[in-house]
Amino acid sequence: MGKLALAAKITHVPSMYLSELDGPQKGTRQSAIDGHIEIGRRCRELGVDTIVVFDTHWLVNASYHINCAPHFKGLYTSNELPHFISNMAYEYPGNPALGQLLGKVCNEHGVETLAHDATTLPMEYGTLVPMRYMNADQHFKVISVSALCMVHYLADSARLGWAMRQAIEQQYDGTVAFFASGSLSHRFAQNGQAPQYANKMWSPFLEQLDHHVVGIWQRGEWATFCEMLPEYAAKGHGEGFMHDTAMLLGALGWHHYNGQAEVVTPFFPSSGTGQINAVFPVTPMPAELNDIGGARGAAGRL
Ligand SMILES: [Fe+2]
Repeated sequence: MGKLALAAKITHVPSMYLSELDGPQKGTRQSAIDGHIEIGRRCRELGVDTIVVFDTHWLVNASYHINCAPHFKGLYTSNELPHFISNMAYEYPGNPALGQLLGKVCNEHGVETLAHDATTLPMEYGTLVPMRYMNADQHFKVISVSALCMVHYLADSARLGWAMRQAIEQQYDGTVAFFASGSLSHRFAQNGQAPQYANKMWSPFLEQLDHHVVGIWQRGEWATFCEMLPEYAAKGHGEGFMHDTAMLLGALGWHHYNGQAEVVTPFFPSSGTGQINAVFPVTPMPAELNDIGGARGAAGRL
């Protein structure tokens, strides 16, 4: 049946948008923009029809949610950083059928998930910023998944990712990419100090921690990373509590995953936070995970 063709952890910093505009940030995020363009190019080459974004800017207080409206169009202003992203135009096609399928299979695997197609839910900028650089021509359909999960277990997010991959491989007639749209550590600069930290980490501890984690990803030490993820999310002020990362790794096989991350845009600091674009090669699903119980066991430690 279908295929998960590409998986990546991606940045979505608003300074990418500022980087386009005249001003002090002009050109400063070109490397991140180029990374998005490259990932979009690879998706085209692989025949991806739909991009599913685990969006750490979509806050939810109960259940998991999928925004699978048939079409998205509007002018977006960030309520969190309105001086960074204001009146950004967007238009992308959606994929209601795939969104409903993903929701159905997540529920079958014990993860309560609601798919919304007849909805006025807007997209958040965790989805809109990457799509601006990867999908300006509306080549890909887009689905957004809530990943700022306030009261959720990381294990459930890992199972959601795993269930979504099963849905695609077993029941979808098409090719899909999964993006975990969120940062590494995510401690913004204290109010009043933002300009000094525009291109700097908030603390040496967080900078060292992030560099260490990137090394773990590049060496493919997933058992180590999965075990440290809950503490990394807490001590690293994880964006969306790093549920995007749990979803992505769940889709890849959790601690059984045997790929090595490829850094497309090297680590960079932004407003105190740690950012990266990295492709996680999709490897065959480990045999240990080819049943629901296996997945539950694998993620059960969180
Ligand atoms: Fe963000």
